[in-house]
Amino acid sequence: MEIKNATFVISNTDYRKCPEGNRPEYAFIGRSNVGKSSLINMLTNRKSLAMTSQMPGKTTLINHFLINNSWYLVDLPGYGFARRGEEGRKQIRQIIHNYILGRAQLTCLFVLIDCRHAPQKIDLDFITWLGEEGIPFAIIFTKIDKISQTRLRENVKIYSDKLLETWEELPPLFYTSSAKKIGKEELLDYIHSINQSLDQQPSENEENSKPEKDEVI
Ligand code: GTP
Ligand code: MG
Repeated sequence: MEIKNATFVISNTDYRKCPEGNRPEYAFIGRSNVGKSSLINMLTNRKSLAMTSQMPGKTTLINHFLINNSWYLVDLPGYGFARRGEEGRKQIRQIIHNYILGRAQLTCLFVLIDCRHAPQKIDLDFITWLGEEGIPFAIIFTKIDKISQTRLRENVKIYSDKLLETWEELPPLFYTSSAKKIGKEELLDYIHSINQSLDQQPSENEENSKPEKDEVI
């Protein structure tokens, strides 16, 4: 699938103020600095659609980007940023949790993991929580340009083994580099296949869920 157009729509702290309608949305979550906003820019072929920074803690809001006039990419704040302080971290955690639990349009959550590191408790706890809440998710290993292929394979094996201690099967796994533009096609194809399967499902409100005739999908 190709992204023909991408537009920033709105930023929110409250999921209830996010865009109305039945368009499916795909959100990116993970620790601060893991590369969520950069990945959105890579996928949409835009340099600074989503704001990025070398300093962790850049994204503090729920940001909606309308794609091809038919679905959303959502940039979320990162979790676990130490320098935000306990109160700040709690606030961000609340924004994220409320969005994930309350937003019916959330179709798949992509959990981003920096491929260079050993499994971190904060990510594993978050993934366990998603399982308990029954939230559909996939994992994206980011920044793969920073390590060798061999090292990547080793780290992914360690991660997979860790997950299989508690999960019966692994979620879909993706590998990306925003710097080298790797993994774009696989991710967009995955999103496209979900969008197609949603289109084939009859919905409660046929009128709102179907794209307009001349919309690009
Ligand atoms: P918060 O908004 O603070 O939660 O961070 P984020 O997850 O949105 O990270 P962001 O996209 O702002 O990227 C953080 C830093 O990592 C920036 O300096 C990016 O240039 C860098 N970065 C992101 N993705 C990649 C990648 O694939 N490869 C390399 N080498 N650097 C990357
Ligand atoms: Mg960000």
